Amino acid sequence: MENNRGSWNSNIGFLLAAIGSAVGLGNIWGFPYKMGKSGGFTFLLVYIFLAVFVGLIIMASELALGRKTRKAPIAAYKAVSSKYSWLGWFAVLSPFLIMTFYSVLGGYCIYYIIINLMGLFGGMPDGSSFGAMLTSIPASLGVLLGFMLICFIIVAGGVSGGIEKFNKIGMPALFVMLLVIIVRALTLPNAVEGLKFMFVPGYAVRGGFIEEAPSLITVLGTAGGQMFFSLSLAMGAMITYGSYLSKEENLVKNSGIIVFADTLVALLAGIAVIPAAVANGINNGIPVANIKLNGPGLLFSTLQDVFHNMGTIGGIFGVIFYLLVLIAAISSAISLMEVLAAHFIDKAAEQGKTLDRKKVVLIITAVITVIGALVAADGLGSNHITPAELFKLKVNTWNDCWLDFFDCWSEGIMMPLGAMLMALMIGGEIGPKVMLDEIHNGEHSPFFSKFYRFCVIYVVPAVMCLVLAGQLTDFFGNQVVSYIISAVCFIIFTYHTLIPDWKKLGQDGNE
Ligand code: PHE
Repeated sequence: MENNRGSWNSNIGFLLAAIGSAVGLGNIWGFPYKMGKSGGFTFLLVYIFLAVFVGLIIMASELALGRKTRKAPIAAYKAVSSKYSWLGWFAVLSPFLIMTFYSVLGGYCIYYIIINLMGLFGGMPDGSSFGAMLTSIPASLGVLLGFMLICFIIVAGGVSGGIEKFNKIGMPALFVMLLVIIVRALTLPNAVEGLKFMFVPGYAVRGGFIEEAPSLITVLGTAGGQMFFSLSLAMGAMITYGSYLSKEENLVKNSGIIVFADTLVALLAGIAVIPAAVANGINNGIPVANIKLNGPGLLFSTLQDVFHNMGTIGGIFGVIFYLLVLIAAISSAISLMEVLAAHFIDKAAEQGKTLDRKKVVLIITAVITVIGALVAADGLGSNHITPAELFKLKVNTWNDCWLDFFDCWSEGIMMPLGAMLMALMIGGEIGPKVMLDEIHNGEHSPFFSKFYRFCVIYVVPAVMCLVLAGQLTDFFGNQVVSYIISAVCFIIFTYHTLIPDWKKLGQDGNE
């Protein structure tokens, strides 16, 4: 039955929505700070390599899977695979878990817009606002509600009427604001040190920013995790957006544009954020080794100090900057919510029912807000209701605050594992040809076909194995154990994929 799924009005509308999904906190916050902790230039090179050889491949595959099946992730996986039909659950659970904290971070942007606006009338806030906000539970809850309300209105408006419309205005606006911030950041005295950190090989260590460069394998893990998150992959988002896309559109070109745009914005965000943070630190006489490019403080504390030190005019740049981060957060959050909405709408349609989109989105919004409230009340661990404290566990990254807890399951485990299994499913079970037929839709590019086959069969599973190990190390700490777990997963699933008769053997020859 033709249901109320909706579709994009135009290819450019789709592209802006997909770029909107990709461009988010991952670009503006995650990219600069992961670059900061992973040795600057080397990270950048590894990141670009991974975006081309892995990101592009999974992007094209997800869009193709969505468009081929015209379904949300769970039904889409069911339609193409018997061994991996359950993988769709990852692609629905992950976005839900991500939303529980993404919404809180989005709320923080609203808070910062407000305090910078107030700063215009005197008393520019500085980096200490971050601690104050985290410990003020009512403020954190209030802005969380505000953020969710905005997302509700957009997603309830539908695919073309809400999501596409928002991105058509939001994305160009974001780009212009980013350019304004870059010009301001690069004209600060000493900003060039930040640029050298980003673009001169080895400068991160020589310049004193980090003591010692992390090993290549650690950088691969970090950059791979970052790249996946940033491109909105393995979260069902691109499958869902692909399912609304017309058969005429060229998936190779579209995937290339999305990957390029997302990487460009991450780089531009790095150029806006890193030199500003470095310049401000140096101008305040802080030795470069102590300039914090690391962790949550970068966006909400270090940068707020930058705006504070500009005086009242800093309020204007503060408002522009946090508004652009807010737009980026909204455009990503609505794609995560759409995955959930599409799932329920499709499921009902399968049973011959038509659900009211507004009601579905309202329920999704409510559930996310309730769990998000826990993350907000926790205040990144400031308010002592962390999983570690509540359950009296040994403190580790996975349990030191609720944000990290939900992030660990989604970004840490389901995302890399899901991507690894998707590549195994395509390369080993259903075969790259099925995907390539949809990607090319009639017109073949022999070069891309070869490139796709090679990457999906060899490069992606191997890289995802490393990324999984890297993520497990980040969250649980033990590198050796993490690598063993990751390798075991890889071997078991490769075996599972490549042995076609496993099930039949177990069932003694029965179908
Ligand atoms: N890509 C978004 C970001 O960079 C996050 C996101 C992940 C959005 C997965 C949708 C799906 O912040």
